[in-house]
Amino acid sequence: MTGQSTDAIATRTVEPTAPLLLFDSGVGGLSVLGKVRALLPQAPVIYVADNAGLPYGSKTEAQIAARVSGLLGRLTERFRPRLVCIACNTASTIALASVREVLEVPIVGTVPAIKPAAAITRTGVIGLLGTAATIRQGYVDRLEAEFAADKRLLRHGAPELVSAAEAKLRGESVDPAVYARAAAALRNLPDGERIDTVVLACTHFPLIEDELRAAFGPGVAFVDGSDGIARRVAYLTQGQDWRRDQPDFALFTRGGSELDQLGPALAANGLEHVAIF
Ligand code: DGL
Repeated sequence: MTGQSTDAIATRTVEPTAPLLLFDSGVGGLSVLGKVRALLPQAPVIYVADNAGLPYGSKTEAQIAARVSGLLGRLTERFRPRLVCIACNTASTIALASVREVLEVPIVGTVPAIKPAAAITRTGVIGLLGTAATIRQGYVDRLEAEFAADKRLLRHGAPELVSAAEAKLRGESVDPAVYARAAAALRNLPDGERIDTVVLACTHFPLIEDELRAAFGPGVAFVDGSDGIARRVAYLTQGQDWRRDQPDFALFTRGGSELDQLGPALAANGLEHVAIF
């Protein structure tokens, strides 16, 4: 099924207990979950982290598309969500279209917030931090051409920021040099010293926004897509009934001590139960 009609989605009948399913390669999607919860506190949620596939950012397009389509196919069959949110820029910019092609459930993706960044930059120079896989996508080229053609968009792929965000949520301390390196990489590009707006084009990065803000110094605004995604989820589920008949939970594709370490961060996001999928 291609291109769902939003009217059909808004009015279709769903089970009140049907959950929202948020999907990421790791804990990055929690930055989206927080915004979704603020708008829809009554919504039952299943959070899925494909930690066996983390990091997506260093994988090929074919690997990512295969993992995401396969997993979401199995997950939607098993849990019958009313809506799937791919809370991952890498997965969305690569696999959104193909996942929409095969799944009948409404899918909300996460794409780099270039449009809002273009609206607020005063210098006209925007930095974009994403994964290596995201920053090379034609999807990003198209957003740039559509919304920032008269701006300068400087891109940097920062895999170590993904590891830093994961480590932070495991309760580990992270060397601040990691954040300084990401800031310096953008600043050192031609015109980089004029960057006044940075797009956090990976859902892991809002989780380390304070650290990045300190590394970039004053006068830089940070933009991510999570508010828009939450509004889109609320819009597509408007008028639907909600009933939570079990606590919300998180699913990981690989077990290990990491899950215990992430326990407090997951619990802080209303995910008290963790299981392996
Ligand atoms: N959180 C993911 C994103 O938004 C990517 C992290 C990774 O697996 O590399 O792009």
